[in-house]
Amino acid sequence: MTIHDTARSLPATGSQDLPEVVRAAFERVESLMDEVVDSDVVVLRDASRHILSAGGKRVRPRLVLLAFAAVGGENPMMAAPVAAAVELVHTASVVHDDINDHGVVRRGRPSVNAIWGRTFALLTGDFLFTKVYELMAPFKDLNVILADATVALVEGETLQASAVKDNNFTREVYYKIIALKTAALFRSAGELGARLGDGSDEQIQALANFGFNVGLAFQIVDDVLDLTGDTEQLGKTAGIDLEQGRGYAATYEPDAAVTALKERVLKGGDAIGEAREQAQGFVDMAVAELDALPASEAKDALIGLAHLIVERTF
Ligand code: IPE
Ligand code: IPE
Ligand code: MG
Repeated sequence: MTIHDTARSLPATGSQDLPEVVRAAFERVESLMDEVVDSDVVVLRDASRHILSAGGKRVRPRLVLLAFAAVGGENPMMAAPVAAAVELVHTASVVHDDINDHGVVRRGRPSVNAIWGRTFALLTGDFLFTKVYELMAPFKDLNVILADATVALVEGETLQASAVKDNNFTREVYYKIIALKTAALFRSAGELGARLGDGSDEQIQALANFGFNVGLAFQIVDDVLDLTGDTEQLGKTAGIDLEQGRGYAATYEPDAAVTALKERVLKGGDAIGEAREQAQGFVDMAVAELDALPASEAKDALIGLAHLIVERTF
């Protein structure tokens, strides 16, 4: 099977599941991202649009806009550039991640490195990271929140590569890695939305914590799916975590021969079941944080999003 055979489109960018009040802003996020990556340097423009137009779940911009609405923010459109910036940080990170992880399929399409090669994938990731400045320029202090989350993401990816290299992928290190590489950006999404919507300090904290816990759950489930799913179902290269000595299951026996370990993890079901339980625990904690918010459609949508994290199959 070639990488092209696995191409398919992910259905996730639609806004039908969102409350009416944030739908137009959610659609604006798409056009903002498309516009901001325009460049006379066609490789950068084409590679950026290749990865952006492939869709993806758009979980992080959903989180920004729902947090905004859940604290009573009145004009979600003003939060769209920030939601787009958060999604660009994430998109840049997966473009670079596929270079490091040798991922050849992403969002149901050949990855940027698979089509354009490592050099241009590296530069496309740089371009996407740098375009975040442009989107965030009007948002003063909020820049620091997104910058901190981006630093954490880079630290997490680096810590992960070091843990693999040093054969030190313990459970404790794993949690540190996923807090940094994934949950920090989810946290910033919740916090940024709540701040833009003018939430109270308590609500901002609650949505930051919500994002963080949802982010931990999201990465654990992602690691489970890497083991149990296939490339077509996931829209990205599956089964590479253990091969490369990382992910939740690697914390069981960092030393074991990969094939033996994979068999044990899959047949025994112990790692999978336990990981799902852990993820559910984080989702429950996330949802409990939302007690700080008044009832609203946006709050219900956040709860739905959190539950979807553990139920998802891609
Ligand atoms: C993939 O994130 C990287 C992780 C943090 C696990 P997503 O699963 O949100 O990727 P897309 O945006 O839907 O492709
Ligand atoms: C993706 O990490 C990039 C970041 C979280 C920064 P993973 O390697 O765990 O995710 P996939 O499986 O490639 O999407
Ligand atoms: Mg990866």
